[in-house]
Amino acid sequence: MAESAPTARDRARSGGAPAPTGDDGGPTTAGPDSSGGDGAPTAGGPAPTPAGPNATAGGPAPIAGGAASDSESLWDGWDSEFVTAWWVEGFTEGADAEYAEQILPMAAEHLAGATSVLDVGCGEGQVSRLAAAVPGIERVVGCDPTSAQLRVAAARGLNVAYARAAADALPFPQSAFDTVVACLVFEHIADVDVAIAEVGRVLAPGGRFLFFLNHPLLQTPGSGWIDDRILDEQYWRIGPYLTEDTTLEQVDNGVWIPFIHRPLSRYVNALVAAGLLITCMEEPAPPPGFLERAHEYAEAATIPRLLFIRAEKVGHTPR
Ligand SMILES: C[S@@+](CC[C@H](N)C(=O)[O-])C[C@H]1O[C@@H](n2cnc3c(N)ncnc32)[C@H](O)[C@@H]1O
Repeated sequence: MAESAPTARDRARSGGAPAPTGDDGGPTTAGPDSSGGDGAPTAGGPAPTPAGPNATAGGPAPIAGGAASDSESLWDGWDSEFVTAWWVEGFTEGADAEYAEQILPMAAEHLAGATSVLDVGCGEGQVSRLAAAVPGIERVVGCDPTSAQLRVAAARGLNVAYARAAADALPFPQSAFDTVVACLVFEHIADVDVAIAEVGRVLAPGGRFLFFLNHPLLQTPGSGWIDDRILDEQYWRIGPYLTEDTTLEQVDNGVWIPFIHRPLSRYVNALVAAGLLITCMEEPAPPPGFLERAHEYAEAATIPRLLFIRAEKVGHTPR
């Protein structure tokens, strides 16, 4: 058994560092712990610190049997200077190939024509800053529940207003924006139905929701590239898919982040319930810069890491 290509269902899980490859003739897996995207810090990241209180040796620690009900305890993990520094160094300002080559260009394309934008779970604000630079966009608000991330966002400035708020209680009136974007955020949110309903509420009729997720079907926990040298088969393994689970994962030394896996239908049905009609879906291949950094993923390059959905607020909420 050996590991090869990184798969990370969430980009924040790793840094494109190749997993070791073994020569024992058994199947090899490209583990879910080594890629970029919603971030993959490797060299140059923050110095290791002792693991948090929930740290366990080995794999991810389950937080709860199902989706957690206390959303505050989930986002709390993002609200520290250390985690913020890790994110800022590893995933912003061009440090991460998936953001630089794929996510931000896609966001720019789909932001065209918008005028007022809410960036839910904005973190240090890279998507907000991008939106503020798009011609025709007059107002950008970024919101995030973490003061540590928002401090960096405010310092990086650029015509964006920031608010401290979680996605399940947006402090904005109905129909306040013509565009809402959420980039690699909802896999960290416990109450997905309430949060997507909030997106629907603050969107004006005809407005758009730009929704970036780690691919919930193909990057499940336990998914990865299998190179079975006995049966001479190579394939992408899908981990448990239908089981919703919340796990606390060590994504770097001393960095523990909660992730929620849920099937794609959970997101789609929440969009439907919020009156959001899907008008576009993209599953792009990992970009070249990512594959250069994580060349073991080359064999699995037809397996997308990112899912993008664009949905439009219809005039009424479907029953
Ligand atoms: C992977 S980062 C993405 C940041 C930013 N969207 C970007 O693409 O650069 C995830 C962000 O989700 C935020 N987050 C976590 N739970 C949240 C919640 N319940 N509501 C809103 N944001 C949340 C975190 O604070 C963090 O900033």
